[in-house]
Amino acid sequence: MKKIGILFGQERSFPNALVERINAKNVKGIQAEPATIDKVIQAAPADYAVLIDRISQDVPFYRAALKNAAISGTAVINNPFWWSADEKFFNNALAEKIGVPVPKTVLLPSKEQPDDTTAESFSNLAFPLDWEGIFSYVGFPAFMKPYAGGGWKNVYKLDSADDFFRAYSETGQLVMMLQEAIDFESYFRCYCIGGKYVRIMHYEPRNPHHLRYAAQHNVSAEMMKTLEEYVLRLNQALGYDFNTVELAIRDGIPYAIDFCNPAPDADLNSVGKDNFEWVVETMATYAIERAQAHKDGKDNLTWGSFIRNAAAGQ
Ligand SMILES: Nc1ncnc2c1ncn2[C@@H]1O[C@H](COP(=O)(O)OP(=O)(O)O)[C@@H](O)[C@H]1O
Ligand SMILES: [Mg+2]
Repeated sequence: MKKIGILFGQERSFPNALVERINAKNVKGIQAEPATIDKVIQAAPADYAVLIDRISQDVPFYRAALKNAAISGTAVINNPFWWSADEKFFNNALAEKIGVPVPKTVLLPSKEQPDDTTAESFSNLAFPLDWEGIFSYVGFPAFMKPYAGGGWKNVYKLDSADDFFRAYSETGQLVMMLQEAIDFESYFRCYCIGGKYVRIMHYEPRNPHHLRYAAQHNVSAEMMKTLEEYVLRLNQALGYDFNTVELAIRDGIPYAIDFCNPAPDADLNSVGKDNFEWVVETMATYAIERAQAHKDGKDNLTWGSFIRNAAAGQ
C-alpha cells in the first residue's frame, strides 16, 4: 500500500477535498489520509510514499521532519530543501537568467539590525547606501515587500523617496526588496502542478478580496500560450510541484510578479468553485502519479533545472 498524506494547518476545504478525491478514484494500492506526524527519529522512514506539505512555512518543526522523511524516500510536495533555499529575490534573478520578464528589483538591508548584531557587524555594508542609484534604477511608483513573504503582508505601494523612507522605517528587521510597479492592463494568477499542469486564472488584485477571481481580461490566444510557457519555465527551473505564478501584463509584456507560493491559496471560498474543482482534481491525479512512481528508499523529490544543472556541473 502506498500512502499519500496531506500535512496542513488551519485550512480545511482543500485538504479534506483532496483526501476524498484521491480515495474516490479507487486506485488499487493507493490510499490518502490527513498525515499524522508523531515521534521523529533521525533517518527513520515516514509511513508515506507521498506527503503534500501545506504548512511547513509556518511550522519549522514540520520542515525538518519533512527533510527527514525525504531522505528515506518520501516524495515530499514541495521539495523541502529547495523551499528552504529560495526566496523572492533570488527567484527574480533566476527568472532573468531563464528569460522570463520580471520588474526591476533591488534587495535592501533590514532597516533595523538583526538581534545580537551591532554596527560593527555591518562593516562591509556601504553607508549610506546609494539611494539615488537605487531609486533611479527602480523608479516610482514602486512596491516594497519582504524578500521572503506571502499573504500580502508588509506590501507597500510607494510614490516617492519620502514615501519610501517613511515606509522603510516601519519594516523593523524584515529584509525588504524595492520593485518597479507594473501598471498593468491585465493580471493573472496561475496554478502550476507537477511542472506540467497549468490553470491560468483571470484575476484583479485591485478588487476587494471576494471579487478578485471574478475578473475577465481580453487577451489573445497567443498571449495565453506565452503565459503558460512562462509558468512552466519558471516552475521547471525552480522545481516546484505545486506553486502559483502571478503575471501582470503591461504594454503586451507579461511580467512575473509573485511566483514563490509553494503552499498556494486553494480555499474554496477564495478561488471559487471552478478553480477549486480544477486544483482538487489535478492535485489528486498528480499525487497518485507520484505515489505510483515512488521507489522505496530512493530520492523521490523533484529537483528543478537550476539545481540539476549545478549538480551536473553545467
Ligand atoms: N511590482 C508590482 N507591480 C504591480 N503590482 C504589484 C507588484 N508587486 C506586488 N504587486 C501587487 O501586490 C500584491 C501582493 O504582492 P505579492 O508580491 O504577490 O506579495 P505576497 O507574496 O505577499 O502575495 C500582488 O498580488 C499585486 O497585486
Ligand atoms: Mg501574492
